Amino acid sequence: MADPSVASLGRAVIFLGPPGAGKGTQARQIAKRFDVPHISTGDMIREHIQRGTPLGQSARPFMDRGELVPDEVVLNMVEELVAQPGFPETFVLDGFPRTFRQAERFDEFLREHGRAEPLVVHFVVDTKQLLRRLTGRRTCSVGGEIYNIYDNPPRVPGQCDVDGGKLIQRPDDNEDVITRRLGTYIARTRLLVDYYRKENALLELDGLAPPAVVTERLIEMLAPAR
Ligand code: AP5
Repeated sequence: MADPSVASLGRAVIFLGPPGAGKGTQARQIAKRFDVPHISTGDMIREHIQRGTPLGQSARPFMDRGELVPDEVVLNMVEELVAQPGFPETFVLDGFPRTFRQAERFDEFLREHGRAEPLVVHFVVDTKQLLRRLTGRRTCSVGGEIYNIYDNPPRVPGQCDVDGGKLIQRPDDNEDVITRRLGTYIARTRLLVDYYRKENALLELDGLAPPAVVTERLIEMLAPAR
């Protein structure tokens, strides 16, 4: 059952960390348990690509190369969603912001809309683990459940335990693109750790423990912030 108390955080929670840190895995858990929206800019872009929209067509080459999609595209996507009437005060952002420009403009957007400053959870993970995590990742094409063929395989290979959906491998989860995504993270996104630390909004989370342990630590960590 959803835990309604966490919705009382009353602010956006940003999951910041390298590719494969476990942001998506944890965001899904937190969203389900606390009954709050989960915004994944990566998922939103992939959906556009799948539907063949103009946004998807323009974003695809960036994603395929392991580079960031232009700031304006992502900012507009997130702001359009959060500005909807009645959008909850508490929500989880997974994979956004990723540049100074995105972080600064999102702060401005929150202020302009009378929303509280965000809380940021930095997933700290040894980069040596990431290649294994990412090459082993499989995602359900129906409900988005995340697996790992090495560490968290489905009961039936290629099939989601939850809804029987086909498991797929993301096209950007190959070694070459993973290396470039990590490079992009180091060059453009990791700097945000200092940006948010200065704002006193940063919580550090050890992302190396098993997923269920990370979830419990995360919940403990968010509790005093309420
Ligand atoms: P996006 O989809 O956001 O990918 P990412 O940031 O590279 O992160 P990942 O989804 O790869 O990793 P994750 O941390 O969510 O790990 P997960 O939980 O799945 O972005 C893709 C692309 O879209 C970008 O390259 C860019 O082009 C574009 N884009 C998106 N947002 C953008 C933005 N804001 N601005 C510009 N461009 C943007 O876990 C990974 C694996 O590890 C899984 O197999 C999982 O089972 C396993 N695992 C998870 N936790 C654990 C654990 N604790 N122990 C062991 N295994 C674990």
